[in-house]
Amino acid sequence: MNPQSTAKHKQITEAEYSVNSPALTKASGSKHTEMAFQLLLAIFSCVLLLPQPAFGITRHYTLEIKMQNVTRLCHTKSLVSVNGQFPGPKLIAREGDQLLIKVVNQVPNNISIHWHGIRQLRSGWADGPAYITQCPIQTGQSYVYNYTIVGQRGTLFYHAHISWLRATVYGPLIILPKRGVPYPFAKPHKEVPMIFGEWFNADPEAIIRQATQTGGGPNVSDAYTINGLPGPLYNCSAKDTFRLRVKPGKTYLLRLINAALNDELFFSIANHTVTVVEADAIYVKPFETDTILIAPGQTTNVLLKTKPSYPSASFFMSARPYVTGQGTFDNSTVAGILEYEPSKQTKDAHSRTKIKNLPLFKPTLPALNDTNFATKFSNKLRSLNSKNFPANVPLNVDRKFFFTVGLGTNPCNHKNNQTCQGPTNTTMFAASISNISFTMPTKALLQSHYSGQSHGVYSPKFPWSPIVPFNYTGTPPNNTMVSNGTNLMVLPYNTSVELVMQDTSILGAESHPLHLHGFNFFVVGQGFGNFDPNKDPKNFNLVDPIERNTIGVPSGGWAAIRFLADNPGVWFMHCHLEVHTSWGLRMAWLVLDGDKPDQKLLPPPADLPKC
Ligand code: C2O
Repeated sequence: MNPQSTAKHKQITEAEYSVNSPALTKASGSKHTEMAFQLLLAIFSCVLLLPQPAFGITRHYTLEIKMQNVTRLCHTKSLVSVNGQFPGPKLIAREGDQLLIKVVNQVPNNISIHWHGIRQLRSGWADGPAYITQCPIQTGQSYVYNYTIVGQRGTLFYHAHISWLRATVYGPLIILPKRGVPYPFAKPHKEVPMIFGEWFNADPEAIIRQATQTGGGPNVSDAYTINGLPGPLYNCSAKDTFRLRVKPGKTYLLRLINAALNDELFFSIANHTVTVVEADAIYVKPFETDTILIAPGQTTNVLLKTKPSYPSASFFMSARPYVTGQGTFDNSTVAGILEYEPSKQTKDAHSRTKIKNLPLFKPTLPALNDTNFATKFSNKLRSLNSKNFPANVPLNVDRKFFFTVGLGTNPCNHKNNQTCQGPTNTTMFAASISNISFTMPTKALLQSHYSGQSHGVYSPKFPWSPIVPFNYTGTPPNNTMVSNGTNLMVLPYNTSVELVMQDTSILGAESHPLHLHGFNFFVVGQGFGNFDPNKDPKNFNLVDPIERNTIGVPSGGWAAIRFLADNPGVWFMHCHLEVHTSWGLRMAWLVLDGDKPDQKLLPPPADLPKC
């Protein structure tokens, strides 16, 4: 069953709507209108033929956040959905388009939606993280996210950005190139979004609530999913399998998205190799691989060339986690099935019912802790860096920062002598950046900054490097306590930033997929052990480093990124493993306005939710 085919959703396709010809959607009835309509259509068609229109169109979407009964693994639950769909509907736009997305909250929970990877140039009010760029949308309220997609094309996704609601509130966000602009690879026969998720039989909100109270690790998921479907390797799940039907001798573009809450994933298709062509909506130098590694918050476009002739077999497309931490995890495997459509000649011999009886091949996935594979894979990712898609790596750096990322503890805050379930029974799990575990404010940071009322909401001081340095990847210090605060790093407009993120071994080294809102960054270097400021920068790649919005900081190692702070606003940065974000592995950058009018944050929309 295709999860997207069942529910109605109000998607307006691009042919139906243009900002310059809203009459197109309303045309009806009278001859006069009809003629006007045809004329407009003619003009519109001409415009469509232009190789690169100077303008984009405006697309309207309505996303209703509502409860929906969904059954997986023989467990039925009422979950928070988008338009009654799980996963949410696919949103499509083109580079240059303006999106007006009305989000209506019809559930008891507060909600906000983040458009993960969208740069939000000067439109930070539409970014979405609750209490960072907006107050959440309350029950019965709505908010129109209004932004224009500038200089970006590729696969991204949207997800809820409050508590753990993104467990069920997510969907693909596909940005096509401008009209007439081709991909830097042969046009695929078909494009297929494949979005990975995690299924919990219990309510994810109850899981994180309990973990926050006890200080322990939250329960793990019961299954991984592809397009919401766990597949045949789980009990009571065979009917909920994602099936991709392909023709022989064609090329398919798979738009892979990791929307899982807490797990990086290996993904492989039996007996097929794929060519990686894009990551985080940035074209990369194509390379072939059997297996890809994709962290939560990352997207990867791959070309799948099908077998030249009908193979008389089907193939598992499987994913399971890459795990470096010491906590418990969901070690199960999701599988979808790649099925070949018989050609006309072979149709009689292999009727559809027989597809089920064909041999089914399974891929060999790397071991769950295969850091060697992870390192090799991430070293293969390079920006395309072509004439049309250059890698504009900042070559001069105004400010260098060194942040640690890792776990830690807070004291058990229970009164009446109760014990906690953290690493010890007197501690609770925490996580931090440079030992500051970020406390969520109760007012939105962006509004507080914009209205000059930040006093008591956040501190504009974040340390350039850890206040107490230690041997980050050596024997961990005895004191694992974090400090707690809402600290922002303030940057003047257009600051060129280099940031080294260093994993720590406190409570175990672990790979952390760090996500930065509002920017793409270049990953100029990566390594294991402690970053050495004297030696390591000599090996930085300033020519064709991968550009992305989420980077897996290697377990027990470091990653160096560069970005230009050319986007005024407050930008969240956090580990995209939701459990670590919940524990405080998060902070925010405040990028100030520039002097010129087009270097300033736009004023807030009138319907911006209030706290
Ligand atoms: Cu996809 Cu702040 O997250």
